[in-house]
Amino acid sequence: MAYGERIPIKTRKEIELMRESGRHVAEILLELREMVRPGISTLELDEAAEEAIGNRGVMSSFKGYDPHGLPAYPAVLCVSINDEIVHGIPGSRILEDGDIVSLDFGVACSGYHGDSALTMGVGKIDEEKRQLLDVTQDSLNLAIAEMGPGKRLSDIGHVVQTRAESEGYSVVRVFAGHGIGSRLHEAPWIPNYGKPGRGPRLKPGMVLAIEPMVDVGGPDVEMLDDQWTAVTADGSLSAHFEHTILITSEGREVLTRVEGSH
Ligand code: MF3
Ligand code: CO
Repeated sequence: MAYGERIPIKTRKEIELMRESGRHVAEILLELREMVRPGISTLELDEAAEEAIGNRGVMSSFKGYDPHGLPAYPAVLCVSINDEIVHGIPGSRILEDGDIVSLDFGVACSGYHGDSALTMGVGKIDEEKRQLLDVTQDSLNLAIAEMGPGKRLSDIGHVVQTRAESEGYSVVRVFAGHGIGSRLHEAPWIPNYGKPGRGPRLKPGMVLAIEPMVDVGGPDVEMLDDQWTAVTADGSLSAHFEHTILITSEGREVLTRVEGSH
């Protein structure tokens, strides 16, 4: 299983390519964020993302992705609304005032991937939703702050879980963060929960995609008939934030962040 392989250390050249893909992901996500409003369809967002990919001469990391013999993922963007956790397929669904929507997006430059996601309100959202978004984003930021050379892999999930559960939320367990490089998903598997101080030590040149998925209710997941969209089993709201992060000799560099990013 790919996630059990040793964690690749990227070369300087590979890191350059991943900086580039990360920047494209960040900039395109900023454009998509501006388009989110009541009345827009999820397909319109995907089409805008696909156009931006074409204009920039990069490749989608998601379209055609086929991890487990299921239907290949058909779009460049994942759009997951309210109780949808991740991997919502864009289509005719219209965003409504008061929804929360996650945009998850990845591109590759010369075969090296960047992957990032954010969740935001559509129009005006209530306090319960605002709090879920803030806490989930905070859990990612706390995990990022914890990352650096010599830290242990499980410290990441421990920080995410502690922050999410401190508000009575739960973390999804069947999906996780992941190494990223010449493959979108590579070693290691990075759960959003666990005890600290376990697993391999982080080293400069590792690149990791950290992606907390946090539910207001329980952690259990159900899959829709499209075989991709994951929803909360209890119908509760779910939020998702993600960044691609390089471990450096000093600490870390968030490759999918530009000015104005989440
Ligand atoms: N950020 C998501 C993940 O790492 C994106 C995957 S969408 C897929 O799971 F289509 F590529 F699978
Ligand atoms: Co990811």
